[in-house]
Amino acid sequence: MSDSIIKPDLSVKVHNLNLKNPVMTASGTFGYGPEFEDFMDVNLLGGILTKACTSKNRDGNRYPRMAETPMGMLNSVGLQNKGVDYFIQNIYPKIKDYTTEVIVNVSDSTVEGYMEVAEKLLPLEKISGIELNISCPNVKEGGMAFGTSCPMAASVTKAVREVYSKTLIVKLSPNVTNIAEIARAVEDEGADSVSLINTLLGMAIDIEKRKPMLSTITGGLSGPAVKPVALRMVWPVANAVKIPVIGMGGISNASDAIEFLLAGATAIQVGTANFIDPAVCVKIIDGIEDYLIRHKFSSVNDIIGKLNIQ
Ligand code: SIN
Repeated sequence: MSDSIIKPDLSVKVHNLNLKNPVMTASGTFGYGPEFEDFMDVNLLGGILTKACTSKNRDGNRYPRMAETPMGMLNSVGLQNKGVDYFIQNIYPKIKDYTTEVIVNVSDSTVEGYMEVAEKLLPLEKISGIELNISCPNVKEGGMAFGTSCPMAASVTKAVREVYSKTLIVKLSPNVTNIAEIARAVEDEGADSVSLINTLLGMAIDIEKRKPMLSTITGGLSGPAVKPVALRMVWPVANAVKIPVIGMGGISNASDAIEFLLAGATAIQVGTANFIDPAVCVKIIDGIEDYLIRHKFSSVNDIIGKLNIQ
């Protein structure tokens, strides 16, 4: 009789989202999905987080707005997108038949703007959740300003919760002293999940021109360089809240993803690595499955939060 390998169950639940596996794409690194269809079957993913969607069209920041750094990159895109009405009319029809979860990343410069976007997205059948982006470091108004103070994070979460009944994820900024406090503040106001970390504020200089590499001088650092910092934030947040935590920050392979799951993340997002290998997420899903088989776990849930600190 041959030894047949029983495939482990990779599915996880984030509030009402039933993810076929814990691997999602991070907002701003995967377009809306169709951009990656030539490289992979996007329906293999646990979920797609779209590029940020705001109430009105935004042109974004002046170029240059990306710079490579050792083991990472800086960006200062500035939430460029064509606005929620354009999303509904032109992008939604292209993604509404996906069999993966699609979650829209929502941002704006005012609480009313966040509410407007959330209210307009609510009737869209395929969109079962939003990720409230209160952590973009690259805009003058809104963005990270909402995510670096407990009262402001709480008030925007409360306002959006009142108008949005589907899954509400809040994306947290690492540019704070105590990220667990912010996580608790948004949980108290009805967030169904928190995702972290968004980018770390950083800066790079072109010494020949004696000018900053980014038009905005500072930007958000992502990529493998931030992974230890991200893990160090996911771990206390997972211990501080009861809602599911979605971990991200420099995840480039299955081993990185498993670290976040062990630290307490129910699901993970892959960001900058998509720019290096557009099919990396499929490799990460396969690698998690191989790990579970190798360690004889029947479900990915068996490793979530199972960091052994004895
Ligand atoms: C940007 O568009 O500037 C990046 C978005 C973010 O960091 O949330």
